[in-house]
Amino acid sequence: MQAEQTTSLPAADEASAAHSERVADHIRQRIAAAGGVISFAEYMHHALYAPGLGYYSAGATKFGAAGDFVTAPEISSVFGQVLARQCAGVLHEVKEPAILELGAGSGKLAADILHALQAIGAAPVQYRILEVSPELQQRQRAWLRDTAPDLLDCVTWVDALPDRHHGVIIANEVLDALPVERFVRRADRVAQVCVTLKDNEFVTAEREAPQALAAAVADIEADLGNSLPEGYISEVCIAAPQWVGDIAGALQHGAAFLFDYGVGRREYYAPERSGGWLRCHFRHHAHNDPLRLPGIQDITAWVDFSSLASAAVAGGLEIAGFVTQSQFLLGGGLDEVLSEFAEMPIEAQLKLSGEVKLLTLPGEMGENFKCLCLTRGAITRPGAFGLADRTLSL
Ligand SMILES: C[S@@+](CC[C@H](N)C(=O)[O-])C[C@H]1O[C@@H](n2cnc3c(N)ncnc32)[C@H](O)[C@@H]1O
Repeated sequence: MQAEQTTSLPAADEASAAHSERVADHIRQRIAAAGGVISFAEYMHHALYAPGLGYYSAGATKFGAAGDFVTAPEISSVFGQVLARQCAGVLHEVKEPAILELGAGSGKLAADILHALQAIGAAPVQYRILEVSPELQQRQRAWLRDTAPDLLDCVTWVDALPDRHHGVIIANEVLDALPVERFVRRADRVAQVCVTLKDNEFVTAEREAPQALAAAVADIEADLGNSLPEGYISEVCIAAPQWVGDIAGALQHGAAFLFDYGVGRREYYAPERSGGWLRCHFRHHAHNDPLRLPGIQDITAWVDFSSLASAAVAGGLEIAGFVTQSQFLLGGGLDEVLSEFAEMPIEAQLKLSGEVKLLTLPGEMGENFKCLCLTRGAITRPGAFGLADRTLSL
């Protein structure tokens, strides 16, 4: 996600402010029903996914210029074109293959991949989408109907991971949208950051960490070889290893490409990151206050890729590679995708080079975003992981 870092935010329009107030009321009711306090993860879950209300479940524009942030596929079709080349190699090696995309957003990546596979002469492929937001499912259908009507028959929406999937699994910026627990390291215990009400406004509070959170922090400290400093605040996504475990259970033969912004565990829990990795997006402004604007701003947390890698290995998958988005694109055929660049009109060249810069430059999305590739069965390592590999940093 790209957005400018700020502390002052633009005002919400009247309709959005009213919607946010409805979401806030819903969360107040959840807090009251829970006896006055909910965990931060529950707060994040309601703010993003409360049925018909949450940021991803209701009608907020979210993606693109009129929304709150842009993702790689929204920036440029080049992202999907390179990814399609990586998929093609895997699909070729698997019997009765399909692509499964998790959290397909606007549907743009699905359309770009299907078009690119068609353009490079890859056989038509079944493209399945697992999307938790009914509103986004409708948006994905409309986008594919408008931009890829001849390929729409290839696409189906599924409600759950299949028992047996052969082919490719893709998730771009899904893990950062899973609710996270926040914790504070106190001298003799781990405290769970919670959300409660003061004068009807959301404020944070602390309580003793439940067993799952305390165990997760103990695991982190065991991996680091030391206790986190007193007062250290950070996040842990308890759901992420389970999510990867479910993918491992589904993938019988093929590869999963997981893209997100994140780092390995040592960097994630480094002493200088004592405030954590939470980030909110509202109208292309990034800030750190998740209690503002519930339901109309995105709330995300960077991903601890080491926890995903461990869960994948525990589920029997192999790690084929871990690279930055820039390395993925450069190693994965960006030059081939841009082969007609010199023949393009100058305006198109300028537009495209601007998009490629956003996707690849270290100060933009090139370094912070990573791709973890997981495989099961005999699969040739995708070319995108040929230039570099940071697996040892996990
Ligand atoms: C930040 S958006 C990214 C959308 C899109 N992949 C892109 O790159 O533009 C997160 C997406 O993940 C979806 N999502 C969240 N949790 C999910 C889950 N457990 N399974 C599948 N999709 C999920 C959201 O509804 C949304 O479509």
